[in-house]
Amino acid sequence: MTDQASYDQFRVRGPVSLRGVVKISGAKNAALAAMCASLLTDEDVVLSNVPAISDATDIAELITRIGGAGSQEQGGALRLSGRGVHSTEAPKDLIKRNRASFQVMGPLLARHGHAACPMPGGDSIGQRPIDVHIDGFRALGAEVDWSGDRWVASAPRGLRGAQIFMDYPSVSGTQNVLMAAVLAKGHSVIANAATEPEVRDLAELLRVMGANISGIGTQWIEVEGVPALRGAAWSVMPDRIEAGTFAAAAAATSGTVRIEGAPIASMEAPLAKIAAAGATVTRDGEAIAIGPGRSPLDAIHLQALPYPGLPTDLQAQMTAMLTQAKGESHIFERVFDNRLLYVDELRKMGADITVAQTRSAAVVRGPTRLHGTRVFALDVRAGAAVLLAALVAEGTTVIEDIYHLDRGYERLEEKLRGLGVEVERVHGV
Ligand code: UD1
Repeated sequence: MTDQASYDQFRVRGPVSLRGVVKISGAKNAALAAMCASLLTDEDVVLSNVPAISDATDIAELITRIGGAGSQEQGGALRLSGRGVHSTEAPKDLIKRNRASFQVMGPLLARHGHAACPMPGGDSIGQRPIDVHIDGFRALGAEVDWSGDRWVASAPRGLRGAQIFMDYPSVSGTQNVLMAAVLAKGHSVIANAATEPEVRDLAELLRVMGANISGIGTQWIEVEGVPALRGAAWSVMPDRIEAGTFAAAAAATSGTVRIEGAPIASMEAPLAKIAAAGATVTRDGEAIAIGPGRSPLDAIHLQALPYPGLPTDLQAQMTAMLTQAKGESHIFERVFDNRLLYVDELRKMGADITVAQTRSAAVVRGPTRLHGTRVFALDVRAGAAVLLAALVAEGTTVIEDIYHLDRGYERLEEKLRGLGVEVERVHGV
């Protein structure tokens, strides 16, 4: 995030009914982990379909700052490797602003027997402990201590395969521990592993790099450690969250949108819920067509859960969509404990939403006429929710702090314009 970008805002003119075709970019959460995996080898890992988002720029910077190799090919692919790494200390500024960068810890520990990382920062969406990562490294034989300002892990004689039980099926925890286990000596089992498609994508990349992994995509991942990994060429899976965001936006605006290149097989939950609310959802090869259906939409209930449940990363956008649905929709957030803060922003626009005292459930009453006003993108998905609301709102919505959106959505205003949205990025002063 540059100082300039930190003050950028979007001005969105509504209401608009989305129309056209949108092409989905590579998945943020798969790409960031794949970039970290390049530290596991001295050979080149060439990653295509990495989205041009600021979170990816941060990880590339981290890799090169600790000495690793990083360059961009013509055509956009990233060529990365752990060749030349001279430091196993992850820079504090990068770890603080980008939580995913904590995932360099597993690869560094596995390859160099040492890794140090400050406590990761990231979005304010509730408690984000990292005990699952730390417990996994300890199970693999590392000594891990909090030194007052950073986690320090060491395993001078290398990691050993182990039986690992994850207290919670953490997405980045599973990715981090898996990246450590692939070079550990012997057999590992990761029980209660996260089954998110982005974990599967990483595991498949690791397999192409020579790792011996089975149970990919299940809650029991088994690894037979290998002494070294090799380079690979890999195309990152498409982003189901970006695809779901455009699908919800199309449904909210009674639009007609063809979403191309989406990972449809991993989008059952959002597509089922959008169809239940009354939009037309057609799966057509690798494209999803969203069209107008019942008008207004119908209220539905939904709960954000680990995969294959509805992704927590789509909860806010679905809530924004449901402001246009008739009746009372009940929303339950079951992954993070404070991920409804964006509701206050939607209320400023006229939404009728009540949040339960537990802060993990909300009731949306609709349909409501939203109006443009000044709102904040509180995190990447909260930002997507206010953007979606801006599309249905009367008048101009000014969205502040859009650097959050830049962290997760590639070429967002260009894609929106392609669907008929009048959106302008205003650089702050
Ligand atoms: C990843 C995604 C994020 C998504 C989330 C849940 C990346 C870069 N980010 O975040 O977009 O919203 O998965 O799908 O991949 N937990 C623990 N102990 C831990 C770790 C997590 O109890 O050590 C709990 C958290 O408090 C939270 C839940 O697990 O309630 C989910 O967190 P986790 O799956 O770890 O999310 P991230 O990997 O940080």
